[in-house]
Amino acid sequence: MQSAFVMVIFGATGDLSQNRLMPALLTLFNQNFLPKDFYIVGFSRRELSDDEFREHFGELSQKPEWSDFSKHLYYQKGDFTKEQGYLGLIKKLNSFDKKMGACITRFFYLATPPENYEMILNFLSSTELAEGCGQGSNKWTRVIIEKPFGKDLETAITLDKKLSKIFEEKQIFRVDHYLGKETLQNMLAFRFANGIFEPVWNKNFIDHVQITFAEKKGVEARGKFFDGVGILRDVGQNHLMQLIAAVGMEMPKSFTKEDLRDERARVIRSIKCIEPKEVAKEVVRGQYQDYIKEKDVLPGSNTETFVAFKFNIESERLSGVPFYVRAGKKMPKDEVTISIVFLQTCHILFKEYGCPEMGNVLTIKIQPDEGIYLRVIAKKPGSKLALETADMHFTYEESFMTKGTEAYEKVLIDIFSGDQMLFNRSDELASSWEFITKILKGWEEDGSKLKIYTPGTWGPKEAQELIDRDGRKWL
Ligand code: BG6
Repeated sequence: MQSAFVMVIFGATGDLSQNRLMPALLTLFNQNFLPKDFYIVGFSRRELSDDEFREHFGELSQKPEWSDFSKHLYYQKGDFTKEQGYLGLIKKLNSFDKKMGACITRFFYLATPPENYEMILNFLSSTELAEGCGQGSNKWTRVIIEKPFGKDLETAITLDKKLSKIFEEKQIFRVDHYLGKETLQNMLAFRFANGIFEPVWNKNFIDHVQITFAEKKGVEARGKFFDGVGILRDVGQNHLMQLIAAVGMEMPKSFTKEDLRDERARVIRSIKCIEPKEVAKEVVRGQYQDYIKEKDVLPGSNTETFVAFKFNIESERLSGVPFYVRAGKKMPKDEVTISIVFLQTCHILFKEYGCPEMGNVLTIKIQPDEGIYLRVIAKKPGSKLALETADMHFTYEESFMTKGTEAYEKVLIDIFSGDQMLFNRSDELASSWEFITKILKGWEEDGSKLKIYTPGTWGPKEAQELIDRDGRKWL
């Protein structure tokens, strides 16, 4: 990237900035991706000087490359709810413009808990910060807004209306970093660039789809944020939806921003909502034991740390193919996978030779060890005919000697270059919120009974029953 810019990070001392944004910016700096002149301004409540802010990033600040990078960091103390900090920000940004002798591009990154978004947007508007450097040059301004985008369908629509009053659509970047994951992007290449998968990617060949979003860790230092949202809003409304879309979408007309977003939006719209009255049967809601003792979690909290549900997509391609999805904290391992389980045909010829319970399974591993695995049935070596499953696999690391670009690096690269393809459009968000909001409503209506599960297990037993009752098993 050649032209100078300034990125204001609201919530700069928080978890997201500390663990995702700054490391990604540092990597891009090391790879010479950033221009010679750039300014990162941290905006937060704490009283810090520029130098203190530069030293605020723990281990990251100890890295040898940090010292050159951190010369580009500045700090503006500000309470999101008071004008004063924003006025200080204006002065700071103007001084950068003055130094550069031009209006430089301004990125406003909202990396705060979502309840602050509206307030920050109000001040960006009333102080005219959103206008760019005072000459109505808003084309040089972009706003980046993190998930969760709202709390439900209604609040998401309200937030979107507010955003679009202040910014034009081309200036708005609604982040879901899963869209930046290498393997998720590869799903498109995998499905549509290889001629051999599309013909079987439909209800005639697929028995069912499983998606697992498992994390070993609990809420750690993010208790306050997480307790206010729960796992359904935290990863269900966004990351899971993107995984589902990657399985269900049709081939876009072209590989361009609008065509791709059209197809993503279309498939999310065609997910059959689980109606509130069906929620008790189709959705499992869990909380890990002792979650309520975690730091910053409200005593007696009713927030879920696990969710599992079953649903269908109503499309010509996949109608009738059940999708089983589970997401949880404090699971036995870190694993984000999509598994396409194909119909079993082994018994037609090999019934007596030990057909495995499940035949071909295509597993797309988003993490760890990003890659694609195909389980096939093979003859076991030996003089007798017996069958066994074997794995064919591709991992990024083995094939390309690299893990690829980290998701937040990709997110930032696209923001800097103005490419919105891997960012949500508001219609995609509205459809996913519609689905999630009906589940939330179902929980509200039935008192949202929580099932407590033991940390290190795959969630409450009801999650097993959800799939067992259809004669299937979690992989
Ligand atoms: C974030 C969620 O969006 O994604 C976290 O808020 C979750 O709760 C994280 O841990 C998972 O992202 P990744 O890239 O580590 O899979």
